[in-house]
Parts: sequence; structure tokens; C-alpha cells
Amino acid sequence: MASFQNQVVVITGAGAGLGRGMALAFGREGAKVMVSDIDEESGQETVALVQKAGGTAAFYKANVAHYHQVDKLMAVTVEHFGRIDIGINNAGIGGGQMARLADISLIDYQKTIDVNLSGVFYCMQAELKQMLAQGGGKIVNVASVAGLRPLANASVYSATKHAVVGLTKTAAIEYARKNIRINAVCPVFTHSNMVQSMFDQSPELEQKLVKTIPMGRYGQPEDVAQAVLWLCSEQNNFLTGHALPIDGGSAAV
Ligand SMILES: NC(=O)c1ccc[n+]([C@@H]2O[C@H](COP(=O)([O-])OP(=O)(O)OC[C@H]3O[C@@H](n4cnc5c(N)ncnc54)[C@H](O)[C@@H]3O)[C@@H](O)[C@H]2O)c1
Repeated sequence: MASFQNQVVVITGAGAGLGRGMALAFGREGAKVMVSDIDEESGQETVALVQKAGGTAAFYKANVAHYHQVDKLMAVTVEHFGRIDIGINNAGIGGGQMARLADISLIDYQKTIDVNLSGVFYCMQAELKQMLAQGGGKIVNVASVAGLRPLANASVYSATKHAVVGLTKTAAIEYARKNIRINAVCPVFTHSNMVQSMFDQSPELEQKLVKTIPMGRYGQPEDVAQAVLWLCSEQNNFLTGHALPIDGGSAAV
């Protein structure tokens, strides 16, 4: 039997990149995956890919920056699949134009806070209420290595990811005796649309940044997916409150 057989997993931002990679990985392991994204077309594509690989998935469109849409997403997941065993709070944006702090527009500032910080907070609130009612669960928030140390020209993005690590660690101790484990993953640059748009803004950055990764390559969505499966597995029942770098050794430097 696959290790996540019949477990219900909800993944935000699962229409592309890391979220799609995690949806496919959980689907392969027998989970029932609620794919959510602001973009219906790409979300439905992820559902089709999970199903093509023999997995079970459904789609619900939600913008994580809106509390009521997140609340509805979690309610629909419970209606459809009966419970929420695992919440993967992955939806996030890069923060707009790369710029030093004084030059960041207030529009980019607010949007980044709304999606990357409020979005994770709303998801955690709704997931925790359900997990408390059903007697347990697991949450993984997708932060970033930029949540562990600064990322020049992306101060607001970095601030939101530090905040996600703070939400993760604090909630982990608050619910440690409620059979709810809460961790974060902190990927380094990983191939996705988000990273591609950053490299499109500055092609020389692509050559420069890879040299800062000891393993000498950028991450792949599957690298993150495998770490998340491991964090959520039953073999890890004593592991909570961590912010795990998935970074080819970057955080060790
Ligand atoms: N790719 C990287 O190098 C990297 C590194 C560290 C952390 N991360 C984090 O991983 C997560 C996923 O990033 P990615 O690289 O796969 O990006 P991506 O842009 O490829 O995919 C993000 C997905 O989220 C969706 N989305 C965007 N805003 C949304 C919203 N308000 N509500 C719901 N869905 C929304 C998009 O439609 C898209 O499908 C983000 O939180 C990002 O900060 C990425």
C-alpha cells in the first residue's frame, strides 16, 4: 500500500511549479489531492496529470489573499473528501519588480503581504480548525531560504518568508499536544515560472546565483516534493516546528 493511501491533501498554488510537483507526488503515493489555484486552467491541468498517473484529485479555485475564498476551499475539501489530513500552504508570488527597499512600490508591497503572509495565515487558521475537530493533521508551509536569510532586491518577499517561518514555529508549539505537526520548507532557487521571471529580469543573475549553491545546480520541483512527503510521513511523528532548507547545501555556507 502506498504511504499516503486515502489521506486527504489540500495544496494551494498547485497549478504550476512546486505546487504541481507536490500534487503529482502525493497523487502517486495514493493520496486524495485537492488542487487549488487562482488560475483555473492550470489547476485543472494538474488534476488531469494526477489522474493520468492513476491518482485521485479535484480542483477548487481560490485566491489565498481572500479569507472567505480560503475558508470555502477548506469547507469544499471536507465536503468532497471528508477531512483534511495534510495542508500544504504553497501559493506565493515573487514580489513584483526586483528593487532595493526604498524603490519598492506600495502596490507590490501590499500584494506580496496579502498573498505570501495573509494567504498562509488564512490557510493555517482554516486547516487548524478542521484538524482540531478531527483530532489531528499535518501542515507544511512553503517558505524559502529567503525566509532564513536576506535576499537582496527582494526585501518584502524575504520579510514575508521570515514571517511564514515565524507562523510555522509558533503554531507548532501551540498545537504540539493536539496531534498536529507543523513544519516549513525553505527551498533555494528551484525551476518554476516564478524563478524564470526573475532570471528574465536579470539573465546574468542566473549564471551568478547557481555558483552560490554548493551542489552547483538549481532545485527541481521534485526535490521539494520528496522533502515534503518525508516531512508528512508517519515515520516523522516527532518532528514539528522545523524550517527545513532544501537548497543543495546553500544554508550551510
Ligand atoms: N521556485 C523557487 O525558486 C522558490 C524558492 C523558494 C520558495 N518558493 C516558494 O514556493 C511557492 C511556489 O512557487 P513556484 O516557484 O512554484 O511559483 P509559480 O509561480 O511557478 O507557481 C505559483 C502558483 O501559485 C498560484 N498563485 C499565485 N497567486 C495565488 C493566489 N493569490 N492564490 C492562489 N494561487 C496563487 C499561481 O497561479 C501558480 O500556479 C511560493 O510560495 C514561492 O515563494 C519558490
